[in-house]
Amino acid sequence: MIPVIDLAADRRSVVDAIGAACRSTGFFSVVGHGVDPALRAAVFAEAHRFFALPDAAKRAVASATEGPSANRGYDGLRSQRLDAGAAPDLKESFMIGLELGSEHPLVQRGVPMHGPNRWPADLPGFREALVAYQAAAFDLAARLLQGIAASLGLDDGFFAPFHREPILGLRLMRYPARPPGADGTEFGAGAHTDWGGITVLAQDDVGSLQVLSPGGDWWDVPPHPDAFVINLGDLMGVWTNDRYRSTVHRVLGGDRERYSVALFCDLDAEARIEVIPTCTAADDPPRYEPTTVLDHLLGKFRASMAPAG
Ligand code: OGA
Ligand code: NI
Repeated sequence: MIPVIDLAADRRSVVDAIGAACRSTGFFSVVGHGVDPALRAAVFAEAHRFFALPDAAKRAVASATEGPSANRGYDGLRSQRLDAGAAPDLKESFMIGLELGSEHPLVQRGVPMHGPNRWPADLPGFREALVAYQAAAFDLAARLLQGIAASLGLDDGFFAPFHREPILGLRLMRYPARPPGADGTEFGAGAHTDWGGITVLAQDDVGSLQVLSPGGDWWDVPPHPDAFVINLGDLMGVWTNDRYRSTVHRVLGGDRERYSVALFCDLDAEARIEVIPTCTAADDPPRYEPTTVLDHLLGKFRASMAPAG
């Protein structure tokens, strides 16, 4: 079972519940999170409008795999392969990052993943809805990171300096119904871990998100209209020397199409991530070399992009 944590409960029990979830499943749902349901409803409505556009309109905002706009814009059906041992993912997606002006130093220096967002024409309100939701979901992620820090015996603010201008991928996803006769290697999204810090996911009522349990079974993450699904990315494993880890998950794909919206709160591109000293011991030396966020993410991102199809 994936734990459900009520963030409106008293602080000590919230921190304890977050710590317990991070040490076991690495996946939990949150309610009592304070995110305005209207923002969530609006972003789903925009996702439906966007994916209903003609193919040419979606392709007009296609993402790039290299350069400043890498990972911003539209990725078509079967264009990514999250599980190298499976067929390309059935899903299509649309991604934005933080809106940084052209004068911003990260943009000026051409740091990958920090170019302009690619906005579709003729969708009034689309941009505003995505940007507002992105801010609210990031606020939730930042609050959860405070709880995660506390659960590790660190200052609440420990992670704050690592997400001042984070790679903040807001991704709209549409999973078509699984084609009849799909074989056992074809998934909505193949089995993978998320790569960065923490992910805040909103899913519709279809279901079919599954998490690999510590015992090796696939557990369903049941839809809940107001809950966000939270999971940790690989860099949390680096920080904590695997006390907290990223958990393998997948989207099976079902007989109905499905929409979801993920915020990947992936930290500042140039931040250096290394094992937190209190997470190692003489008999538990660091398992990871220090890495920068961008090096880690770009490696994972490039490896996942299947040939366009
Ligand atoms: C992802 C992911 C799950 C979902 O995009 O990394 O795991 O429900 N998505 O869309
Ligand atoms: Ni994922």
